[in-house]
Amino acid sequence: MKILLVDGTIFGKKTGALLQQVKQYIAEYDSELELEILSFNELNHQILDGSPLNDDMKMMIQKFEEADGYVFASPIFQASIPGVLKNAFDMIPPKAMRYKPAAIVGNGGTYQHHLVLENQLKPILDYFRCFVTPNYVYTHTSHFDENNKIIDEDVQARLKELARIFVQYCEMRKAVLKENSIEIK
Ligand SMILES: Cc1cc2nc3c(=O)[nH]c(=O)nc-3n(C[C@H](O)[C@H](O)[C@H](O)COP(=O)(O)O)c2cc1C
Repeated sequence: MKILLVDGTIFGKKTGALLQQVKQYIAEYDSELELEILSFNELNHQILDGSPLNDDMKMMIQKFEEADGYVFASPIFQASIPGVLKNAFDMIPPKAMRYKPAAIVGNGGTYQHHLVLENQLKPILDYFRCFVTPNYVYTHTSHFDENNKIIDEDVQARLKELARIFVQYCEMRKAVLKENSIEIK
C-alpha cells in the first residue's frame, strides 16, 4: 500500500519535522507500507482558476489518486489551514480519497488554535470520505528545540500512538478493497 505524507506548507520546518517523525513511527509498525513524503515547498503551485494545470499540479493530483492512505501535516495560518493546502484539496477529484485512511498532525504558534485541525481540516477529509483516525497531534513552538527537533516526550508518545492507529486503519482499507475484489498493491 502506498501512503502519501503531505507536508502542506511551503516554508518553515516544524511541520515537516512532525511528518518525518510520523513516517518513522509508521515504518516501525508496518515496514511493508510504501511511504512517500510530498513536500509542497518543492511544487510549482497554481491557483485553481480554471486554466490548464501545470505539470507539478498534475503530478500532485496523480499522487493523491494513486495513494491508499494519507498523513496530512499543516501549520496554522490565520486560525485556519494554509491557503496552499486548501487550494490543493480543491484540485483533488471528490472520489480520489474515498475510504482511504487519513491522519492529521499540525503545528501552531499558539495553544489556543489546537482545535483548528479538528474543526477545519477534519471536515474536509470527512467530505472526501476518508477514514480519519480519531487521534491527531497538535504541537506548539515550545515542543521543538532551536533546530526544529521535537523535544517533548508526550508529543513523541502521541505521534507514535497516532502511527499505531493509522496502521490499523490501513488494515481497514485493505478489508474494504478485498470486499470489492480489488487487488491490493
Ligand atoms: C501567515 C501566518 C499566520 C499564522 N497564523 C497563526 C494562527 O492563527 N495561529 C497560530 O497558532 N499560529 C499561527 N502562525 C504560526 C504558525 O502556525 C507557525 O509558525 C508554524 O506552525 C510553524 O511551523 P513551520 O516551521 O512548519 O512553519 C502563523 C504563521 C504565519 C506565517
